[in-house]
Amino acid sequence: MTITQHEKQSLIDLANEARKRAYVPYSKYPVGSALRTKTGKIFTGVNIENAAYPQTMCAERVAIFKAVSEGEKEFEIISVVTDNGGSPCGGCRQVMAEFGLDTIVLLADKNGNLVKETTVKKLLPEAFTPEKLVNK
Ligand code: THU
Repeated sequence: MTITQHEKQSLIDLANEARKRAYVPYSKYPVGSALRTKTGKIFTGVNIENAAYPQTMCAERVAIFKAVSEGEKEFEIISVVTDNGGSPCGGCRQVMAEFGLDTIVLLADKNGNLVKETTVKKLLPEAFTPEKLVNK
């Protein structure tokens, strides 16, 4: 399915709006994400930190886990909004790769400006994917 510029901007705006709900008392680095599934459903996520720092969960994974827990596993596009257009961490790239290397990834800054449009495949070359485990 083709995705219009307007739809892309709307996913960035939704992620930026979600960012206001990020729980970031430690890093003060709010991240928002919005994921559109192939069935057209949208799930947002924010980063949720914890006093025990390693228990923090990234925004992208919250959005993906919300979708999967609602029965959605095929994704079209995911937006990630940070203050400075930061790129997803390695762990989030791996979780994205689990559900498809062709998912489009939009990175945007706090003003909602697109900084980069890329794909999971480009963000995680030579990914370890579920097919690698077939027949094991
Ligand atoms: N963070 C994300 O939410 N997504 C990423 O891909 C990178 C990092 C969060 C985790 C932590 O709450 C804060 O950003 C600083 O690392």
